[in-house]
Amino acid sequence: MTETREADALVIFGITGDLARKMTFRSLYRLERRGLLNLPVVGVAVEDWQIEQLIERARESIVESGEELEDDVFERFCGRLRYVSGNFADDATYKRVRDELGDLSFPTFYLEIPPSLFSRVIAGLQQAQLLDQGQRVVVEKPFGHDLESARALAQELHRHLDESQLFRIDHYLGKMGLQEILYLRFANTMLEPVWNRNFVSNVQITMAESVGIEDRGHFYDPVGALRDVVVNHLMQVLAAIAMEPPAGGDAKTLKDAKYAVFRAIADADPKAYVRGQYRGYRDADGVAPDSQTETYAALRLVVDNWRWAGVPFFIRTGKRLATKQTEVRLVFKHPPRIGFIPLHGRRPEPSQLVIRIDPGTGVRMTLDAQRADDPGAQAVHLDMDFASQGGEAATPYEVLLHAALLGDATAFTRQDSVEECWRVVEPLLDSPPPVVEYAVGSWGPREGDQLLNGFGGWRRLWLTEH
Ligand code: BG6
Repeated sequence: MTETREADALVIFGITGDLARKMTFRSLYRLERRGLLNLPVVGVAVEDWQIEQLIERARESIVESGEELEDDVFERFCGRLRYVSGNFADDATYKRVRDELGDLSFPTFYLEIPPSLFSRVIAGLQQAQLLDQGQRVVVEKPFGHDLESARALAQELHRHLDESQLFRIDHYLGKMGLQEILYLRFANTMLEPVWNRNFVSNVQITMAESVGIEDRGHFYDPVGALRDVVVNHLMQVLAAIAMEPPAGGDAKTLKDAKYAVFRAIADADPKAYVRGQYRGYRDADGVAPDSQTETYAALRLVVDNWRWAGVPFFIRTGKRLATKQTEVRLVFKHPPRIGFIPLHGRRPEPSQLVIRIDPGTGVRMTLDAQRADDPGAQAVHLDMDFASQGGEAATPYEVLLHAALLGDATAFTRQDSVEECWRVVEPLLDSPPPVVEYAVGSWGPREGDQLLNGFGGWRRLWLTEH
């Protein structure tokens, strides 16, 4: 079974690149520290490096990421590192990888390279007979830039690989917050019965970032916020909120449940889509001087099934906003008039349930309550911060790399879902509204707030509420 056989080596193509520097070394080091890394790690890249240079890069990366370097752990980690230098277009590179692996016959391959190179590398691996036992290949987004290109990419990959061998990373699926959503929903009798259109008025998903695009202009400008984080990360958050309880814990059952949500989402409506661009974005390196790319996106999606019909899902994200925070909020329906208590014209706030995904995982329940002191009745918050109670969670890449090595596919995305997500946003790509400028440090353009007219607006985020 390809899904459950553990890898006996990890081979990383593109180990000298940015992703490895920012995420991979740190995650592997953390796995090493937890005693969960038990195999050789072979880096492959075009640079003519010696192993000492790779070790030096690993050290720098881990330190830069803020991780405390423990000598014995780092030494153990370095003992696993190997390096193969070679051009990905050259068949000899794959032979060298095979030689380096020696008796190790079931490596997992991790492609930290642009998708335009996936096909060449996978073909090279296949030719070197490194894929014929169902070995896994882990790939990074973007999985296409629209529905058609996503399909074309998959077709290309499926020439050499079965879908079950492909592990597509969406790092949001490695976040503790997403797992928490599913657990909370289905482990609490108090929540599940009200988790539907009879009780919920609307759902608000916000991924706010205070940073801009910095030195990623070349990557970001042809992409924009919708493709960068909505069609993948935020739709995954939506799926965790909206899906039916999976009947089993195996990857297929879980993925089927998610797929069913994506299938039920209506094609997005460009009239309920707002695009913004922060002031100064066009001055960044790699950005066109007349760029129309959105750095902010707000939209409404409709999940048209028995659980959710009539409940809008509002999604917004943006760079250079007032804060960095990701949360999802269920806003329940307004209670009817309360006749027995004088509220002096004030209506009780609707109850809300917030799951904070970043920074740190937390859950907040907002209820309207009466207090003896002024101002009497008001919204009160019942908060639970998981990091302060249950300890620090593993980082998303740590979770996902470990799962890929074990062959646990549950937290990776499947092609049919990838395609459905593109199908949903396709009308927004085809008929994008004009971009509206917004001030750095703001909450984005006013038009993004107007999307929620009739729903009480975007609620202030948990950590900015006080
Ligand atoms: C990445 C996007 O996938 O996710 C970035 O390419 C974005 O633009 C990042 O900043 C956000 O991730 P996180 O985990 O910080 O919310």
